[in-house]
Amino acid sequence: MSKRFYITTAIDYVNGQPHLGHAYEKIIADVIARARRSLGQEVFFLTGLDEHGQKVQQAAIAEGKTPQAYCDELAADWTSFAKSLGLTNDDFVRTTDQRHKEFVQAILTRLNDAGHFYKATYTGFYSAKEETFLTQKDRRPDGTFDPIYGEVVELKEDNYYFRLGAQQQWLIDYIGANPDFIAPSYRRNEILGFLKNNTLEDLCISRPISRLNWGIPIPFDPNFVTYVWFDALVNYISIAAAHGDKAVLAATKSEIGNRKSEIELWPADIHVIGKDIVKFHAVYWPIMLKAMGLALPKQILAHGFWQKDGARISKSTGNVVEPVAIINEWGVDAFRFYVLRELDIGPDGNWTEAGFKSRYQAELANGLGNLVNRSLSMLKRYRNGIVPARSNELAADAAKAADETRALLKQSQLQAALQSIWGLVNRANQYVDQTAPFKLAKDPSQSQRLDEVLYNLAETCRVLAVLLWPFLPGTATKIYAQLGLAGSPDKLPAATWGGLQAGQVIGEPAPLFPRKDI
Ligand code: MSP
Repeated sequence: MSKRFYITTAIDYVNGQPHLGHAYEKIIADVIARARRSLGQEVFFLTGLDEHGQKVQQAAIAEGKTPQAYCDELAADWTSFAKSLGLTNDDFVRTTDQRHKEFVQAILTRLNDAGHFYKATYTGFYSAKEETFLTQKDRRPDGTFDPIYGEVVELKEDNYYFRLGAQQQWLIDYIGANPDFIAPSYRRNEILGFLKNNTLEDLCISRPISRLNWGIPIPFDPNFVTYVWFDALVNYISIAAAHGDKAVLAATKSEIGNRKSEIELWPADIHVIGKDIVKFHAVYWPIMLKAMGLALPKQILAHGFWQKDGARISKSTGNVVEPVAIINEWGVDAFRFYVLRELDIGPDGNWTEAGFKSRYQAELANGLGNLVNRSLSMLKRYRNGIVPARSNELAADAAKAADETRALLKQSQLQAALQSIWGLVNRANQYVDQTAPFKLAKDPSQSQRLDEVLYNLAETCRVLAVLLWPFLPGTATKIYAQLGLAGSPDKLPAATWGGLQAGQVIGEPAPLFPRKDI
């Protein structure tokens, strides 16, 4: 078996409820995963949860639960959230999984044996309230710390550190030589700027159990647990190892559990993440991988942040978008469409209810929905639902949209692909207005012309279903069913013009996006 196209998302902190930002990222990864499958590649799509750390421990205590019980309850909400979004993930990692914990420990042992870690005493200013060490940079001009940190005390603490000193230059060179490693390019420039203008400090990879015990124990020192980021990043390879990936198993010389499969995954093709965690993925993660003797991921694809009504999304201020509520009211495809069409992968975006409703009405109900409904209803009414002989009037328009979409999907340019697809939707709606099949139907001498128009419209609907499948899988499947076609529109080569055969009997037309009073 050949190597799969391996795509991952950030793993979300389990505490708190899933919100728009989490949903957006997972949908991006799902569309890319579906697109690659549709292009004929074998894909492995991984998402999951980050479950260790201080915040989880505290939240569990506050609810009178063990951290594990607390995580188990929330994990059920998150996995059902993934289902609501229509994700086609092949696995769902939880950092409390035994397969992950064992792997992290194996890695720590190996890196320690190879001399990558050292123990040192750190003296610094510590905020117990925020569970963090502060530096001189955190001081206000008058020398005091912001009251958000509560009482700040000087603390001495032993910890394990990962040596990063010798690692800076090769990483700068690597990023320089691999322009697609960090996308979009402005994020790459930020990381290059950071690496060129700062000296990397060694990374603290442990926490003393006196301060935190909800973590993976450091295998060579029972007084410490693993720092959450060192734990979390490793999910991308611990799960590859769990599926029997040879590269990861060989590099880490690990042999854990009984592996049933031997799927080749590493290196990952794309890590989809938000802009706030690029440094972890583009600086620390490559250095960790190099130390383990593993190849670097091919791309770190960083998306922007959503706001709502121009303000930060925040549970405490009530400024939230509830993805599940939107999905229940408008359908998952409407939700997927809005976030992908509204926001390109990179910049920040702003959710407004008016914007959502306006795209729903204009592009989904009046655009795509109306095209499919009137095309198929006319075919039903004027030709008993039987597809006439092939005609090629819209073939060039469809080929253009299909070629563009294919190329854009390969570059993960999802918004641009949707724009191209809607170019075809608009062209076909314009074609209905120009050819006026309802008028042709009244004139028996125009019967052949009506056949041509109806074929062009039905075949355009079929091509649209194939192009839309990665983005709006439910809608694409409905279009196929309404055309009376068996199977799924899930193979991009099927977007070639002429797939609809004369004599094919279509199914029942029904509105794809019911119009709503808005
Ligand atoms: N657990 C870490 C990631 C570890 S990956 C090895 C984490 N979790 S998180 O829950 O805070 O964020 C998960 C993802 O959601 C991140 O990629 C983050 O950028 C993204 N988003 C969180 N809020 C967001 C928005 N408001 N908008 C868009 N994405 C946002 O970080």
